[in-house]
Amino acid sequence: MTDKKIIVITGAGSGFGKLAAVELARAGHKVYASMRDLAGHSKDKVEDIRSIASSEGIELHPLQLDVREEPSCRSAADFVLAVDGRIDVVINNAAMMMAGLTESFRPEQLAQILDLNAISWLRVNRAFLPAMRRQNKGLLLYVGSGITQIPDPFTGPMRPARRRETFSPKSWALRTAATTSRP
Ligand SMILES: NC(=O)c1ccc[n+]([C@@H]2O[C@H](COP(=O)([O-])OP(=O)(O)OC[C@H]3O[C@@H](n4cnc5c(N)ncnc54)[C@H](OP(=O)(O)O)[C@@H]3O)[C@@H](O)[C@H]2O)c1
Repeated sequence: MTDKKIIVITGAGSGFGKLAAVELARAGHKVYASMRDLAGHSKDKVEDIRSIASSEGIELHPLQLDVREEPSCRSAADFVLAVDGRIDVVINNAAMMMAGLTESFRPEQLAQILDLNAISWLRVNRAFLPAMRRQNKGLLLYVGSGITQIPDPFTGPMRPARRRETFSPKSWALRTAATTSRP
């Protein structure tokens, strides 16, 4: 394919992130399936991704990236830019689901959920956006959730936490477009 993109997906060891990573690599793109703790917690997922990549001969690579850790986001961006010299697409997918009566969550737990599901994209974007600005090109995507619209009593913390799609990316995109010079 001629329009091969360099793509990073967060939380790509399982679920939609993994599915998207595999399908985009099958479509001819170079995909970094990023995960936290490659050598420990995500070891089996890393082996699975490597096995799919080698059996299908596709450009699918595990990448260390914990979206809750700023240095990890920056290291991931540095690695991709050192290897590929550019980044075309970042897909903010990492999140967690939880269920239970809202009052059963401690405030610290709600803060962690909010951090991961609604705020962590900002760390990821801050790591990759400088390169996109230099390139005058790049695409930042966000996986939201329709659960914010469902009045389910057991997913209370999910509602504010999954409003990532309305949290500010739209205004961020407008500001970014307005402040990035075009050739
Ligand atoms: N499943 C649904 O019905 C549904 C519906 C609508 C939208 N969504 C959205 O789809 C996206 C993917 O969800 P999913 O259903 O595919 O669930 P999933 O399989 O649990 O995927 C979430 C991924 O995020 C990762 N993650 C968690 N904490 C992380 C961290 N600190 N740094 C990096 N990665 C981390 C998880 O990896 P670990 O193993 O390390 O925790 C996991 O691989 C989410 O944004 C979700 O809100 C899902």
